[in-house]
This record gives sequence, structure tokens and C-alpha cells, in this order.
Amino acid sequence: MSAEPAVPTAFVVGWPIAHSRSPIIHRHWLAEHGIAGDYLRLPVPPDEIGGFLRGLAEGPYRGGNVTVPHKEAAFAAAERHDPVATALGAVNTLWLEDGRLIGGNTDVAGFLGNLDQQAPGWDAAPGPAVVLGAGGAARAVIHGLIGRGFAPVFVVNRSRDRAEALAERFGPAVRPAGWEDLPGLLPGARILVNTTSLGMKGEPPLVVDLAPLGADALVTDIVYVPLETPFLAAARATGRSTVDGLGMLLHQAVPGFERWFGVRPTVTPALRALVLADL
Ligand code: ATR
Repeated sequence: MSAEPAVPTAFVVGWPIAHSRSPIIHRHWLAEHGIAGDYLRLPVPPDEIGGFLRGLAEGPYRGGNVTVPHKEAAFAAAERHDPVATALGAVNTLWLEDGRLIGGNTDVAGFLGNLDQQAPGWDAAPGPAVVLGAGGAARAVIHGLIGRGFAPVFVVNRSRDRAEALAERFGPAVRPAGWEDLPGLLPGARILVNTTSLGMKGEPPLVVDLAPLGADALVTDIVYVPLETPFLAAARATGRSTVDGLGMLLHQAVPGFERWFGVRPTVTPALRALVLADL
């Protein structure tokens, strides 16, 4: 049995984890709500994650967040899952109910919450969507878009087999495509989402000819370092509405905090500025 910490405590577990901004977010909310609690970064390597997750039911934590590369391991370790985690096959939030480990996925709520806050009404007239990339983040984005009525969702990916695997997971609303198809898909798209790592600090930029995209299409990126990626900068330069990816990080944290500490927190400009200062 682990000793109970002095105050209710949650964690983020990943490998590596030093870059995680989640402690800044949760400690801000703890202070804002006057809760004596804590939120820790836990570096756990892949060969130890199974044991770590199995031990959670014994304490000492209220629960925690799970990030790369452990989201599938967390799915396997949880005794029960919320519907989004089941749909995605990945868990990013863990909590305990009657001593049982429960896994949820808040990435979809993060993606949608960000757009709802930054671009109110963005889903008022849903239609075709284009998602660039077919990794773990793409799964959450696709699930969210389908839930808001967007169809078809074209998934453009370098390796075709990953896009096809997503079509199998989500059904006929998802249409696999290649980069060469993009110019033909952009004219009908209501929203264009980058979920690839292109444009992230240290990675090559994402270069897309946006000329065929409708003038009122929304362009968003899940990359948030830098906040304005070359992709978003290009979209903005051509007059399109854009939403950066930082809000997805902030909004995905909301449901976990509520589970562990019993208060539903808010994503405020002050929180955004705090995290921005650390990027
Ligand atoms: P995550 O879980 O964060 O989504 P991931 O699973 O590693 O991360 O997925 C990264 C995505 O970026 C993939 O769609 C990847 O394309 P492949 O599936 O073909 O690998 C895409 N990506 C990364 N680097 C790329 C590059 N140089 N050109 C095109 N796509 C790239």
C-alpha cells in the first residue's frame, strides 16, 4: 500500500514528460478554487507503465492524465471506459470509482471545446471536412467532427493504410485520401484541420496551397508550439478564420480536474496567458 499523500493529488504520466504543461494548468485551477491539492509530472518508461497502471487502484492518487506513448496501455489497464475512450481505443484520463480504475478520453471534448470558445457557431452548417494526418490525434478530431454532423470527413495521410484503418474504425463517413487528392477536396471543405506534426517546432512546415479552399472555411491546427504555425499564418494571410491548438490542450484538461477535485474549472484568458508564457 502506498502512503496517502497529504492532499488530493493527480498526475500526468508519459515518456518523456518534462515538456508537459498540464501541471501549470491544474495548479492554476487548484489555486483559483482554493483547493489544497497537487498535480505531478510522472516520467514512466514503456517497460514500467503496466505495473504503474496496475498499482493505481491501491492509491495514492485520485487519478491522472496519460500522454504519449501510454494512451493504448491505459486503455488496456482500465476496467471500464467512457464511450469516447471506447470509440477511440485510447485513454488520456484515469480516475477511480469504488477502487476500480476507469479510463476516459477528453481529447474530443478538448478539440470541440476549443472551437466552441474561439469560433462560436463554427458547426452551424456542417458539411464536408478535411483532416490532415491519421495518428492518435486525428482519431479524436474525426470523432468530434462526426459527432457535430460533419460528413464526409476526408482523411489525408502520407501512409494510406493508416487512413484506411480510420475509415474501418469510424465507418463510411470517413474517406481515406492522399496528399495528391487535397486540391480536389479543398473547394467543398467547411473545415480544414491539421493533426500531423508538421509545423511543430523542430519539424518541417506544413505547406498547403489554400487557394482552392472556400473563403468561409475554418482552418485549425492542433499544433501549439509555435502558437501560430506556418500553416495557420498562411490561412490568416488569405483572410480565413483560424483557431490555434492551445485551447485544445486547455479544454481537454477540464473533465479530469472535475473528476479528481470536484469542481468544474473554466478556460479563461488568464489561464491561456499563463500557459502561453511557458511555451
Ligand atoms: P499523434 O498521435 O500525435 O497524432 P502520430 O501517430 O505520430 O502522432 O501521427 C503523426 C501524423 O503526422 C501521421 O499522420 C503522419 O503521417 P504517417 O501516418 O504517414 O506517418 C504525419 N506526418 C508526420 N511527419 C510527416 C511528414 N513529414 N509528411 C507527411 N506527414 C507526416
